[in-house]
Parts: sequence; C-alpha cells; structure tokens
Amino acid sequence: MTHQYILTRSEGRVGIVQFNRPKAMNALNRGLMQETMDALDAFDADDAIGCMIVTGNERAFAAGADIKEMATATPAEMLDNPFIGYWDRLSKISKPVIAAVSGYALGGGCELAMACDMIVASETAQFGQPEINLGIIPGAGGTQRMTLAVGKALAMEIMLNGRFLSADEALNYGLVNRVVPAEVVMDEALKLASEIAARAPIALRLAKEAVNAVYEMSLQSGLAHERRLFYMLFSTEDQSEGMDAFINKRKAVWQGK
Ligand code: CAA
Repeated sequence: MTHQYILTRSEGRVGIVQFNRPKAMNALNRGLMQETMDALDAFDADDAIGCMIVTGNERAFAAGADIKEMATATPAEMLDNPFIGYWDRLSKISKPVIAAVSGYALGGGCELAMACDMIVASETAQFGQPEINLGIIPGAGGTQRMTLAVGKALAMEIMLNGRFLSADEALNYGLVNRVVPAEVVMDEALKLASEIAARAPIALRLAKEAVNAVYEMSLQSGLAHERRLFYMLFSTEDQSEGMDAFINKRKAVWQGK
C-alpha cells in the first residue's frame, strides 16, 4: 500500500512504520497520524507480525504536532477532529511497539515515543515538550507520561521552561531503554523487536497489559489483575508447549493459541 506521509515495511515478524516528512522535521499532521495508526492497527491484526517499530530519520523522530496545521484552529475544531485521539489509539495497540529515536523527539513527537512500550535512542536524540514556547501545553500525554518517568521537579523544568533531555539524561531517568550510536539505532531496535516478536504471542500481549496496568490501578488491584492474566495463560496451548519444551530440553514452537 502506498502512503503519502509514511513508509511501511516488515522484516521477519517485525512491522516497521517510518515517518516520511523530512522537510518538515516529520511534523505530525493529521494525514501522517491517520496513516501511522492505520498501519499499526493493520500490523496489530496480522498474525505474521509480533512486534512493531516506529521511527523517523536521522535529524528528527518527529518535531511535534504540525504547528502550521494547528495555528488557526478553534477549541471546537480541535475537539471535533480525531487528532489527539491518535495518541490514545497508539496506547491501545495490543502488540509491543518500540520507538527508534534519532534527533528531535519534541512535543507530540516526544509524546508519541512515550506512548510506545520501549524506546531505543541514538546518541543524537533530544526529548522535549517545548509547547510553552507556542503559548500552549502538551495535549497528547506529555505532562503525564513525562512526569511519571522523570519525576515532578524535572518535569516542571521541561514543561515550564522548554528544557530538552539528552539521550543520556533520558536513559538515566528510565525514559529510554538504551542509547546507541546513530548509525546503528535501527539495527538495535530491529534486534530487540525481532527477539520479542519470536516469543509466545498471547503471553506477550498480556505481559504488556499487566505492566501498563501499573499506571491505572492501585497495587492491590494491579496484583489481582496480574493474577487473573497469569491464570488465564494456563488455558493456552503456548503454556503447555513452553513448559513441555523446558522439561524435555527442546526449543518451544509457539502457536499463539
Ligand atoms: N510543525 C510544523 N512544521 C515544523 C515543525 C512543527 N512542529 N517543526 C519543524 N517544522 C518545519 C519548519 O517550519 C521548517 O519548515 P520550512 O523549511 O518550511 O520553514 C522545517 O520544519 C525545518 O525546521 P527548522 O528550520 O526550524 O529547523 P531547525 O533545525 O532550525 O530547528 C527544531 C529544528 C528545533 C525541531 C524546530 O523546527 C522547532 O522548534 N520545531 C517546533 C517544535 C515544537 O514546538 N513542537 C511542539 C509542537 S505542538 C505539539 O506537539 C502539541 C501536542 O502536544 C500534540
């Protein structure tokens, strides 16, 4: 399928979406977000895909929502179009999604990376929520997800004073999984995604759901939720296969059933 704003491909069991608006620093306009979410939803529904990667280019993962597209919007227009809802749609994808980030991940771009499950960053990556410079605040999760990652004091500096985080700072705060040289960021993301994509599909989905529940539930509710998902996995063929393979010292063959 041809797209106007993104490139898609698959490598083995990994589905890849690359933003393709290099002249606009991959600014996230409606068309790009629509194409991205449609592609991710299609990968999510495809049994041949086990994990996804979202990436940009060397200079920019994405420099935020498209300011030119938003500049004259009214509140009613913002409310009426599905734009901000695309970030919610991303967080509801059931398979793992990895962001491979080089260069700027700003505003909605930073929010998009944070809505993914893991981030592989290049040494050139810069994360920030510079919306304050536009007279607005983040609207796609930045104040919440960034604060959960880095804590209140630094989050305030990021939101109130437009401070950027370097890749190493992001690593120190646990915002990203690893930092690698720019030229290998995609290779590293692909290696991680391929390893994950080879694992038991239903267990993967439920593991993702259980980790994400930490942001929504009290500890007791989260523990009970985890326990139910754990018990549920004992109804899958993959559980029988995984344990039989361990006991008989062979490699498990996952069916996703
Ligand atoms: N929207 C639209 N166009 C953008 C853009 C954006 N977010 N970011 C960059 N561009 C465009 C520029 O307008 C420029 O286009 P022209 O060549 O047509 O003038 C082109 O990309 C290259 O940008 P620069 O010349 O500015 O490149 P630079 O290297 O000097 O600076 C930058 C790079 C620091 C990323 C700078 O472009 C910048 O600050 N961009 C805006 C970042 C920002 O404010 N993001 C938040 C957006 S609001 C948001 O995301 C809300 C939300 O929560 C959902």
